[in-house]
Amino acid sequence: MRLREKSVLITGAGGQLGTRFAQAFAAEGAGLWLADQSPERLAAAAAKLPAASLRGTLEMDVTSPESVSAAFARVRAEGGLDILVNNAGIGVFSPFWERDYAEFMQVMSVNAGGTFLCTREALRLMKEKNEGSIINIGSVYGVVSSDPRIYTDCARMNSEVYSASKAAVIQLTKYFAVHAADLGVRVNCVSPGGVFNNQGEDFVRNYSARTPAGRMADDTDICGAAIFLASADAKYVSGQNIVVDGGFTAW
Ligand SMILES: NC(=O)c1ccc[n+]([C@@H]2O[C@H](COP(=O)([O-])OP(=O)(O)OC[C@H]3O[C@@H](n4cnc5c(N)ncnc54)[C@H](O)[C@@H]3O)[C@@H](O)[C@H]2O)c1
Repeated sequence: MRLREKSVLITGAGGQLGTRFAQAFAAEGAGLWLADQSPERLAAAAAKLPAASLRGTLEMDVTSPESVSAAFARVRAEGGLDILVNNAGIGVFSPFWERDYAEFMQVMSVNAGGTFLCTREALRLMKEKNEGSIINIGSVYGVVSSDPRIYTDCARMNSEVYSASKAAVIQLTKYFAVHAADLGVRVNCVSPGGVFNNQGEDFVRNYSARTPAGRMADDTDICGAAIFLASADAKYVSGQNIVVDGGFTAW
């Protein structure tokens, strides 16, 4: 119970990793604000939490400054915020030569813009307590390029814009770790490797063969790093990117 009574907001909480993060934070005693643009996904994620762990659900579009401000205003009115997990993210899987510019900007807007907007609002709250922890969710593809040899079935093609947006998330982490230090806020990033979610057989085989651990991540594999960074165990850790990838980026 390392996070007893801590108030945590998770964006993209209705997704695969967001729902797992919420369960892991709840198991450590935290009170959860679940945020997502999809009310259906929010309801499904909330149903997977013990009722006592849920502070509320926030229908929020991370690309909309108004929507983000309104959600954080509610959190402020109901006790403030100790921990933010910037997890909402999207990818596109078509080849780059087919990329539409609007699609490019949409990915940047959700992954990098959303991280910025939520971080700005969280810092406005956290500076009142002079304490806080922000955890951004990056990706191995913010650190290295995807290896095209993995994508032989071509139903999924990791995109240039996803990588660029996740590199931006890692750099936003460093910037805010430096510029929010005097507010008592630590800012770190967790960069997962590929998480198994019933992808095509070729992809799973190729990805696993390319990974020293010999398999894709299970969604529960990513939670430990986020809990660590949120907790007092990491009270002297800021500006870091913890890559949780079974060794994928080690060679
Ligand atoms: N799954 C992986 O293999 C993997 C690997 C590395 C990094 N990541 C990162 O982890 C995070 C979570 O990934 P996931 O696999 O759980 O994705 P997911 O698609 O299962 O969930 C993403 C959630 O974000 C929400 N969302 C999308 N756009 C939004 C917006 N504009 N405003 C608010 N909510 C929005 C969606 O409704 C969805 O519930 C993402 O940032 C992703 O890039 C995932």
